[in-house]
This record gives sequence, structure tokens and C-alpha cells, in this order.
Amino acid sequence: MERLQKVIARYGYTSRRKAEELIKKGKVMVNAQVITELGTKVDDNDVISIDSVIINTDIKHEYYLLNKPRSVISSVTDKEGRITVTDLIDTEARIYPIGRLDYDTTGLILLTNDGEFANHLMHPSFEVPKTYIAKIKGQLTKEDINALKHGVKIDNRKVKINRFKIRKKDLEKETCLVEITIVEGRNHIVKKIFRELHHDVIKLSRVGYAFLNLEGLKSGEYRKLTIKEIKKLYSIK
Ligand code: URA
Repeated sequence: MERLQKVIARYGYTSRRKAEELIKKGKVMVNAQVITELGTKVDDNDVISIDSVIINTDIKHEYYLLNKPRSVISSVTDKEGRITVTDLIDTEARIYPIGRLDYDTTGLILLTNDGEFANHLMHPSFEVPKTYIAKIKGQLTKEDINALKHGVKIDNRKVKINRFKIRKKDLEKETCLVEITIVEGRNHIVKKIFRELHHDVIKLSRVGYAFLNLEGLKSGEYRKLTIKEIKKLYSIK
């Protein structure tokens, strides 16, 4: 038996908090009876409906880790007909990416059809460290290094840099490879950090997401997450 709001969120209908609001408003029925009690528990045999639409609880949840290539869009469909991350995964399930990587960014992205899992990982209070390798124009100066150590202000909010490391300098080409770990999930955040320090990002790849990495996956390849990994991601606060 599981709490009603948790089941509604798990099947991707809405977040757990919004499900609670719907229950309180009397919009949720279990076995054709309106339920307004938040503690109500349900099991697989119960028929749940919201605004008289029955939730399909026969959905099997799937979880994937993809090594996204360049020139692939992090969405389910694209108006311009570009390849999307879901095109690369062979499944009938209606999966979607958890968060996004830019069109020209490569690397680690998770996909699922488990709404509660996705909401959990994307919630602002869930601080998942994400590691990127950025190839930037120019070399980091002492001032840049100092700024990265103390956090960089983007759109009036300071971004904490958990860790960074210069991986390689190419003095001839005037480029530098920097590994950087942050928990922030704002769009284009890594490019904005380096832009603030007057460096363009020429290439960007996400190589780490919490404890996950791209080991064994070439560009465009993917694998299913293990039960252990799913549980571990759920348990991170
Ligand atoms: N930061 C960026 O600038 N781009 C991404 O795709 C991800 C993080």
C-alpha cells in the first residue's frame, strides 16, 4: 500500500505536492469515491481518477543513462525535426529527459517515464553534483581561479563551484580543458560561468551526475540504470 499522492506522482500525472492539492480540492477519486484525506493509501488494484480521467497504473517504469552526442536536442519532440534524445533509445515507453543539455553539449543525460523520479531529481532542493569538462578559449588567470574558488555571480545569484581542475593547457591553440563540478541546474550555466570570466566555451561535455559516469558508453550509446542506482538516486536528499 502506498500513499495516494505518491502513486499519482509516480505515474507522471503531476508532482506529489500538486497531487496533494488536487486531493484536497476533491478532484481525485479512488474506486469511484471522492477522496480528500491526504493519508489515504492505495494498492495496484485500486482505480484512481483525476477529474474523472482514470490514471493508467499499468505503466512499467524505465530508466536510461544516455551518452548524448552533439547536435541532438534534449526533448521528446522538435518542431524543426531535429534528432531528439528519445529518438536514440529503443523503447515503446513514453520516456523524457531529466533536465537538459544544450544542443551542442555532449554527455550524460538520464531519461525515464517515472514522473516522481524525475520530479525528485529536478527539484531545486535536490542537490545533485554534475561534473562537466569544458574546453575554453584562453587560459585561466589567477583572478579567474580565485573567482571560481569563491563562486561566480550569474544573473545576480552566486553559483558555488564545488570543485574545478585544469586538466590540460594548449598554449599554441590558446585553449584549456577545465573539469568543473556544480550542483546548479540553470540553463547554460557552465557557459555563463566561463563567459563571466571572459572565456568562450568551445566544447562542453557532462561526464558525471551524482555517482554516475559514462564508463563503457560511446557517444550515442545508452544503458538501463540498475535497481541499485535508481534507489541510490532516490535516497539522495
Ligand atoms: N551548462 C551549459 O552551459 N550547457 C549545458 O548543456 C549544461 C550545463
